[in-house]
This record gives sequence, structure tokens and C-alpha cells, in this order.
Amino acid sequence: MAIERTLCIIKPDGVKSGNIGNIIAHIQKEGFKILAMKMARLSSQSGGKFYEVHKERPFYGELVSFMSSGACVPIALEKENGIAEWRRVIGSTDPAEAADGTIRKLYAKSKGENAVHGSDSVENGQREIAFFFTEGELADLA
Ligand code: RTP
Ligand code: MG
Repeated sequence: MAIERTLCIIKPDGVKSGNIGNIIAHIQKEGFKILAMKMARLSSQSGGKFYEVHKERPFYGELVSFMSSGACVPIALEKENGIAEWRRVIGSTDPAEAADGTIRKLYAKSKGENAVHGSDSVENGQREIAFFFTEGELADLA
């Protein structure tokens, strides 16, 4: 299997509930390499652009307003089979359906405010990582 990059975002609810450290602990326990990380506040314009793939969906307005409601923590991750691996660690979109031990089961409140983001394909992962980080910031620091 190939080494893949994925973008995690600790969403504003995960920041506000004090779970940044807990979520980073899952990242490290599961063996992901952290390539770059920062705290950011999305404007509604940039949040709208990040999630523009969902702009026809009924929850788009709510999603953009939530994502721009406070600080978030984008983290570029790398691991073998990283896209599927990170989605396994975060669990289903709706915490009520997420498996025990997953980040959303442990820390999310609702389907909308669900603690973390994960890219859904290698191509989207590249696009989403480039949205937050420059090539220089992604340089291997090891
Ligand atoms: P994400 O992209 O954030 O990792 O989440 P996902 O793949 O599990 O879910 P997706 O279908 O891509 O939806 C993106 C985000 O939109 C919000 N959402 N709200 N109220 C609703 O029915 C609803 N459905 C989705 C969630 O924040 C979801 O993570
Ligand atoms: Mg998605």
C-alpha cells in the first residue's frame, strides 16, 4: 500500500471543548507522521471555498458558518494508506453512528459539529493540504 497524505482539521467544537491535546494523542498513537500544523481562523469566505464541493448540499450554509465560528487546527498527516486510516480513526460523520473508541464517538456532539475533518481521497487531500500549507511548510523536518 502507498504512503498517502490527508488533512485533519480539529474543528471549532473540538478546540472549544478542550480536546486539541486528546485528538493529537490519537494521531500519535495511531502512527501518523505530522508534516505541518497550525491554529487558524477561517473567514466565512475561506470556509466557503474550502467546502465548495458541498455547496449544493442543504447543510452547506450551516457548515460554513460553524467552520468560521472559532479557531480550528489544520494538521497535515502522512501514513501508509493514510486517507482510509484517518477516516477509520475519526469514525462516521454522525457520532451516534461512530464506532467505539473513534474520535467522533469520544469527542463530537452532533453530525454537524463533529470534532474533526478527514480528506476523502488522495486528490482532495493534496488540494486541502495546499489550502492551508505552503510547500516550504510541508518540507520534511525529520
Ligand atoms: P469531513 O469532510 O468534515 O471529514 O466529514 P465527512 O466526510 O464525514 O462528511 P461529509 O459528508 O463530507 O460532510 C462534511 C461535513 O458537513 C457537516 N455535515 N452536516 N447536518 C448534516 O446533516 C450534516 N451532514 C454533514 C459535518 O460537519 C460533516 O463533517
Ligand atoms: Mg468529507
